[in-house]
Amino acid sequence: MEQYAIKGGSPLVGEVEIGGAKNAALAILAASIMTDETVMIENMPDVRDTNVLLQAISSIGGIVERVDRHTVKINGSQIHDVVIEGDYIKKIRASYYLLGALLGKYKKAEVALPGGCNIGSRPIDQHIKGFKALGASVKIAHGLIIAEAEALRGNHIYMDVVTVGATINVMMAAVMAEGLTIIENAAKEPHVVDLANFLNSMGANIKGAGTDVIRIRGVSKLHRTEYTIIPDQIEAGTFMFAAAVTKGDITVKNVIPKHLESISAKLLEIGCEVEESDDAVRVVASRKLTHTHVKTLPYPGFPTDMQPQIAVALGLSGGTSIVTESIFENRFKYVDELTRMGASIKVEGNTAIIDGVDKYTGAGITAPDLRAGAALVLAGLAAEGFTTIDEIRYIERGYEDFPQKLNNLGAQIEIVDTDKALQKFKLRIG
Ligand code: UD1
Repeated sequence: MEQYAIKGGSPLVGEVEIGGAKNAALAILAASIMTDETVMIENMPDVRDTNVLLQAISSIGGIVERVDRHTVKINGSQIHDVVIEGDYIKKIRASYYLLGALLGKYKKAEVALPGGCNIGSRPIDQHIKGFKALGASVKIAHGLIIAEAEALRGNHIYMDVVTVGATINVMMAAVMAEGLTIIENAAKEPHVVDLANFLNSMGANIKGAGTDVIRIRGVSKLHRTEYTIIPDQIEAGTFMFAAAVTKGDITVKNVIPKHLESISAKLLEIGCEVEESDDAVRVVASRKLTHTHVKTLPYPGFPTDMQPQIAVALGLSGGTSIVTESIFENRFKYVDELTRMGASIKVEGNTAIIDGVDKYTGAGITAPDLRAGAALVLAGLAAEGFTTIDEIRYIERGYEDFPQKLNNLGAQIEIVDTDKALQKFKLRIG
């Protein structure tokens, strides 16, 4: 089984190019089948999640052409099936975006019902509420969500919770509905805005994305487009925290600094220097980190997808910090692993109380999910000695060339798949 082998202790220094946003890419790929003309998408991250969604699109007759590693052309004119099998949903939850896309285009979709996941139960009641409000009948049978409508009609939809997934799914279903749809209490995440911009470039009429009221006036059809995906806020944030935990100096390039404001603010609070320019942010950590409190919130609040990374940094700060997770119910699974590296963290409900320690020590640990896995890599890079991390398939879901990008910054990390390869790594690194 493949693992990351890490020798920690070196400050990470240099520049890193951030790729396209995985979560925007997933929404945009699903939406790309909504026209019968060919769309070209650039800055597509080459990560497991996007590749699985491309396979799901091919499986129903979508024509996918990889122009180069980060550019893909999609043509949805030959789609012959509106059923997305459970295998895709098991591998990647966001395959359920095809529900909104297929319902919007063909007025019918059957997609396997996503289960819970490693960060907690993940209800889809708001998605269903939105589809029903547009006039679809929605039932769950044999593990599938089956949505269909004679015609979709615009409506006023109030989301009971701020949800990225339901905002995206309902937006897609409403794009070709008759009349006006208003989504209130909509999610404001950068990838919600990116999807709206993408759909508008295909001829949709969506206003207000990025605020909590989105207005969608239905159009009869969508057309071809060429579109470039926004940079990945969470990949960028992860490298910014890599500078913090390794006492490094990293410039993350090809980013939109505005999307990183809540992350930059916390880095400043804990004693890092943060310099912003047009499309780059530099983080310098030259002194011991100080403690702080943080609560995850919908955008523009501090992202839940950065919660494990900031906890790893606070674990090395002077003093006691409190991290409150307000989005997902079970997002502290990594704490046991971090404790094995010497962290002092107590979890009570949705709160982690962190007493800073002077250092982490390398250990054999397991990635519990995507973002926690990346955070544990940061812990390994900061730790004294060797760390191995199992279940790196989670991390590969969302980080392209993670070891290579880290090594370019002076890290010592390698993928090993046997004990012999691990020993070789240890001998070589010394
Ligand atoms: C998306 C992101 C994920 C991120 C999360 C929060 C993608 C592919 N994934 O996930 O990386 O961590 O946003 O920023 O973009 N909820 C309901 N009912 C629903 C839907 C959601 O109660 O019908 C709740 C969830 O349980 C959760 C909260 O709403 O407590 C937010 O979830 P949501 O924003 O929908 O997350 P995802 O779209 O699944």
